[in-house]
Amino acid sequence: MENPNQTASRRRFLRATAAGAAWLASPSLVTRMAAQSPESRVDILLNEPVGTIQPEIYGHFVEHLGGVVYDGIWVGENSRIPNVNGLRKQLVDALKRVKPGVIRWPGGCFADQYDWRDGTGPRDKRPRRTNFWVDAPEWPKGARRDGPQIYDPNSFGTVEFARFCKQVDAQPYFAANLRSLPAQEFWRWVEYCNSPANSTTLAAQRAADGEPEALGVRYWGVGNESWGCGGNFDPADYGSEFNRYSAWVPSYGVRTALIGSGPNDGNLDWTRRFFGKLSKANTLGRLWGWAMHHYAWNASGGRTREWFEGKRDAVKFDAEQYYDILREADEMESLVTAHWAVMAETDPRHRTKLVVDEWGAWHASGTEPFPEALIGQQNTMRDAVLAGLTLDTFNRHADKVAMAAIAQLVNCLQSLFLAHEDKFCLTPTYHVFDMYAAHQGARSVRTQVASPATTYSRNGTPATMRGLNGSASVNGNQLTLTVTNPSMDQPREAEIQIHGGTPRSVAGVTLAAGDPRAHNRFEDPRAVEPKAIAVTLRGAAIVHQFPPASVTKLTIALG
Ligand code: AHR
Repeated sequence: MENPNQTASRRRFLRATAAGAAWLASPSLVTRMAAQSPESRVDILLNEPVGTIQPEIYGHFVEHLGGVVYDGIWVGENSRIPNVNGLRKQLVDALKRVKPGVIRWPGGCFADQYDWRDGTGPRDKRPRRTNFWVDAPEWPKGARRDGPQIYDPNSFGTVEFARFCKQVDAQPYFAANLRSLPAQEFWRWVEYCNSPANSTTLAAQRAADGEPEALGVRYWGVGNESWGCGGNFDPADYGSEFNRYSAWVPSYGVRTALIGSGPNDGNLDWTRRFFGKLSKANTLGRLWGWAMHHYAWNASGGRTREWFEGKRDAVKFDAEQYYDILREADEMESLVTAHWAVMAETDPRHRTKLVVDEWGAWHASGTEPFPEALIGQQNTMRDAVLAGLTLDTFNRHADKVAMAAIAQLVNCLQSLFLAHEDKFCLTPTYHVFDMYAAHQGARSVRTQVASPATTYSRNGTPATMRGLNGSASVNGNQLTLTVTNPSMDQPREAEIQIHGGTPRSVAGVTLAAGDPRAHNRFEDPRAVEPKAIAVTLRGAAIVHQFPPASVTKLTIALG
């Protein structure tokens, strides 16, 4: 039962929230109230747990696309670039630090063209294959057309990927080819990975490839974007395919988790009809996760359905473009709740969880770190805010979202790293993952933020972007609160109240830069970095001013 103090403070909070709505309507009231107290409130309700924040929410995506695998991750054992078994050492070390819960591979669209057998056997005997992305319209002028980004030498195959995951303590998540390989090849891939040492011909092949012991791969995606590059199925037809591929998957003692190719953005019809199909066939129990994709890619001028059109520059943007892409990313919350509600129509106990295995900003081409980095883009403080907004949404919905993967790890869309030959740097998005790692495995608790929205002009008409946003989690007596301030130019002061516990001390770190366009480059790799900040306790509350376009973490010791 809620205690009376808690009830009283919740009432105060609800009054404040109602006042928040009034602030938007009445500027004179805004001025009067701002003089009295902080304009925003964050209420953390320790006695209202949401669920455990799965480390897999902090996942990554690696596709054989441009400079992600070759040059980005895989440099080869004989490279002069420092490496661990052929893997770029700087990247391995930095990635391990942010605790990547899971890594998805080998695509993306590439996955539905990939034959896993090509990436097995002695490396110098593996076939060279034409990459899925060979004819993409975005290839920058001047990109080499004869390298591994075009003709994949398959040096990075199953065993190399599994070792990469082991090096960084991540779970591997394989995306199986449903469009162009038979179901039997999917089961054979599982057998190659998971059958015990000395048990099968494929286990012997794995041993010959250097891994005698089973790899214990738990997560398997059954196709990718099956509504698009993964076969252009309709939801019912994809449901039939899923049933065929999932009819028999040997477990080898692993708690195999099959993940279906879920909707693009708000396509509720895809979710409803797929779930309807599986429910009728009584096969919903096979579906551990349902993978949604949501990119924020159109900074202005209305959304286009063509993925290569309508995007804007990654670094040069105005206020409208700044807010528009954040607003589009922030649709994540309504997408999660809308698909969750549709899933409940046939799966009321929610045995199947949501997996958001591709998310992030997708800007126009033109800022690739090097020409072979197809759809590579720079990454500014705007992207860091976008990452904070999205991760906070996942934390707040820890009961629904069991896994997620930002796209993609290095030299690509919203990457954590830029890497080329012997050059390497961390992006602002990396620092957000570093700060938010404290949430992993912690208990998400209800966090209510009341903050005046920011108004901006969109195509000449007023639009709004929410004010402060955040999430909180508890691990032992440590409370972690992360907060983003998406305002491009306004600091926001907030009073933070903790209900159900007493703060004893607080430490803070902020990622901010004078300019939201600030970013790191090979020549200037530390332009954007988190800084420790002073935060003071005022009795049981914390009052703090969050700088514009910033991401902040407060670590609060509870009494
Ligand atoms: O991340 C790039 C591409 O975006 C992926 O290959 C595909 O799944 C999505 O459309």
